[in-house]
Amino acid sequence: MKLLIHDYTPEEFAPLAAQYAGWDIVSDNGSIRPCVGCFGCWIKTPGQCVIPDAYQTMARRLHEAEEVVVCTRWTYGGFSPFVKNVFDRSIGVVLPFFEIVRGEMHHQKRYPQAIPMTVHFRGSGLDSKKQALSRRYVEAVCLNLQGVVKDVTFEEVPAPAQKKADDRAVSGTVLLNGSMRGKAANSRLLLKRLQQRLGGEIVDLVSCRGDYDAMAAQLRAAETIVLATPLYVDGLPSAVLRLLSAFEKDPGGKKRFYVIANLGFYESRQIQNLLAFVRNWSELCGYSYGGGLAVGAGAMNAQLLKLPPARNAVAGLERFASAIEDGRCVNDHYEDSFLFPRAVYVRAANHSWIPKGKRNGLTKEDLRQG
Ligand SMILES: Cc1cc2nc3c(=O)[nH]c(=O)nc-3n(C[C@H](O)[C@H](O)[C@H](O)COP(=O)(O)O)c2cc1C
Repeated sequence: MKLLIHDYTPEEFAPLAAQYAGWDIVSDNGSIRPCVGCFGCWIKTPGQCVIPDAYQTMARRLHEAEEVVVCTRWTYGGFSPFVKNVFDRSIGVVLPFFEIVRGEMHHQKRYPQAIPMTVHFRGSGLDSKKQALSRRYVEAVCLNLQGVVKDVTFEEVPAPAQKKADDRAVSGTVLLNGSMRGKAANSRLLLKRLQQRLGGEIVDLVSCRGDYDAMAAQLRAAETIVLATPLYVDGLPSAVLRLLSAFEKDPGGKKRFYVIANLGFYESRQIQNLLAFVRNWSELCGYSYGGGLAVGAGAMNAQLLKLPPARNAVAGLERFASAIEDGRCVNDHYEDSFLFPRAVYVRAANHSWIPKGKRNGLTKEDLRQG
């Protein structure tokens, strides 16, 4: 069976429905919950998300599909919050274990078949630069989740009406932890390091309990926002996308926005799409993009901030803190953990899943089932 993942409203979808008769259809019924970053789909119920809603079996639906079509609003370069949410909830389609593919760290396959994927983006002002970013992103998602790109298309639709940027005079820096792991997040450890230099408050996105409009209203008062976020399926986590989308209703106006992103893989360059998305969002929402810091081998670098292996991450954070302090915009920086060879990192990371599975009564072989 073919699988359609779309974010059309019921009214928008009605004229298209006949085209997809007989397909497995994933649409937004308003109840999808964000991935909470627990990795339960790898270490508790291999291949299936642990959140009990209509999207729990997404990995199986993806793997069983003879082909996948995605129809999504173009959102800063990538998928809309709903479509991204579906992909964040689908990572059980691959194994937790790693291997090197095309010179980069990626996940090993759970299933042998590759999934042919077509993505239709719809948005306004999708020039060649924006299209190139989105194509690169779809390639990255496919490489990560065992897809193969069949086609990527773009449809021009009118831009939604925007309010005028708000020039309220405000003060203060907010350090925003965008990870759904809240206090346990690597993103938070990176922010804490910045906080030693900058002071200011750390706000956890999880604390808004899904009320993204309220959190956006709170954050709009800050002169500078520093977002720390994990990379999820080559982009921003869906919850961060929902928050950023909430700003569109009332753009920021000449305030600065910085971003620090970390990832599970070793190579910080895999964060390049995420930084480009935040830059596009800043432009749309009237923020001045202060720059991005990408931290490779995130879990290790954040946990070991006091030790030599994290020296690059610490140096990057110090430079970043100086720029924020001075109110300067800087170029994006990519910090890998060169003091910790990739082969050692991959071996250690692979091994780390075994005791985690064991705590749930699963053997290494069980983790490979699906
Ligand atoms: C749904 C999901 C998707 C992820 N996708 C990626 C990815 O595409 N590339 C990567 O290197 N790491 C990926 N990760 C790993 C996280 O980026 C990594 O564990 C990070 O250190 C978590 O940061 P946090 O503790 O601040 O949430 C993913 C994790 C989850 C839960």
